[in-house]
Amino acid sequence: MEKSSGRNSFTGSIGFVLAAAGSAVGLGNIWRFPYLAAKDGGGLFLVIYIILALTFGFTLLTTEIAIGRKTKQSPLTAYGQIKKGWKGLGILSCLVPIIILPYYCVIGGWVLKYFLVFLTGGGTEAAADGYFTGYIGDPAQPVILMIIFLLLVAFIVFRGVNKGIESSSKLIMPLLLILVVAISVFSLTISFTDAEGITRTGIDGLKVYLIPDFEGMTVKKFFSVLLDAMGQLFFSLSVAMGIMITYGSYVSDDANLVKSINQIEIFDTVVAFLAGVMIIPSVFTFMGSEGMEASGPSLMFISLPKVFSAMGSIGNGIGCLFFAMVLFAALTSAVSVMEAIVSCFMDRFGMSRAKASIIETVISLAAGVIVCLGYNIMYFDVVLPNGSHAQILDIMDYISNNCLMPLVAIGTCILIGWIAKPQIVIDEAEKTGCKFTRRRLYIVMIKYIAPVMLVILLLKSLGILTVI
Ligand code: PHE
Repeated sequence: MEKSSGRNSFTGSIGFVLAAAGSAVGLGNIWRFPYLAAKDGGGLFLVIYIILALTFGFTLLTTEIAIGRKTKQSPLTAYGQIKKGWKGLGILSCLVPIIILPYYCVIGGWVLKYFLVFLTGGGTEAAADGYFTGYIGDPAQPVILMIIFLLLVAFIVFRGVNKGIESSSKLIMPLLLILVVAISVFSLTISFTDAEGITRTGIDGLKVYLIPDFEGMTVKKFFSVLLDAMGQLFFSLSVAMGIMITYGSYVSDDANLVKSINQIEIFDTVVAFLAGVMIIPSVFTFMGSEGMEASGPSLMFISLPKVFSAMGSIGNGIGCLFFAMVLFAALTSAVSVMEAIVSCFMDRFGMSRAKASIIETVISLAAGVIVCLGYNIMYFDVVLPNGSHAQILDIMDYISNNCLMPLVAIGTCILIGWIAKPQIVIDEAEKTGCKFTRRRLYIVMIKYIAPVMLVILLLKSLGILTVI
């Protein structure tokens, strides 16, 4: 449906919810949420996460989607339209997806590689020690697969909001959900007896995941769990990277925002929760508690292939389904990142979608090649302010996630909470006559609690705050 302004819009709320959920459900849900839950006391982390999703997450998500729909602009120009003089925040929030896209596509390429390896029956090979480091150490293949993944993303964005983003999300998201549920159920049925004769089952692993563990709980530990949950939620909802403003700008004026936002949050949280059911019982059964210490790439590309291989003959098939699911999750997230950038180029410079998509693909390709080479020809190792060792990918991830995203979110809270006033978001949400039930909560969150929490998160990410 073309609007009179010529701007595209989603054909209906299902298309919007699935596209936004597609953005939200990404690698973070799969490789970080289960790890944090296991590390932070199982059920306790889950309860804290859900409470934060309903308060903090709801506030940030509503704000961005409402800014998008109200201004009908991409992030680069939307902030300046809410209040003159706030253009800088737009530039900052457009910079975040520009930094993220290249390295997200590099990871997308790794996922594609593992999917292909499992598809062709090579699961055992992928489980061998040193396989992953050997693979990323190769200067050629990761570049090629990154390019294929990027072209896939670009193709969807190039086709536009309806024919590209909306229709691909309507196909991919239900498939993703089916895969997640099927693998979760399978994960609960497994059992394994190790060399010492100890038998562990999927249900034992589920208990580790779900039963709250208060052992050694102190006020300090509680705050650290709280901050972990907040950081994870923040990243998981795809806020502070311009994406939700962009998608919000494609939502028609008669859609019920409050209902859609609830559905997006539920989708994201359910998939994150189920990722835990998929991963924790399997890892626990085959590797015991030590297996639970891995997260991120080492969980996905080193530990899990070992788990699949330990499953015997069925492992290769399960691994193939698992990596297909991860590929879907990464693809819809990467599409949203590219769309945020393309929409900025279109709105600000009056470019056509085709031109904007091609320019961004070229930029991302060039930067993506450099990221790949950071593991071989251009290898170096630096220590970041938070103490972790980093290559080019980690540096880009650090700048975008740890520095820029909290800054953008703090700026958004100040702009809406104090300058433009929360009422503009409430009015936008209530435009269709629906009731904004968490109104008081929203005002208190956006003015006081969210910015304070975000400042603490920023200081911790930067390694300045070390007590928690
Ligand atoms: N929200 C995604 C996740 O949880 C992350 C993401 C989306 C990152 C889009 C970048 C861009 O994994």
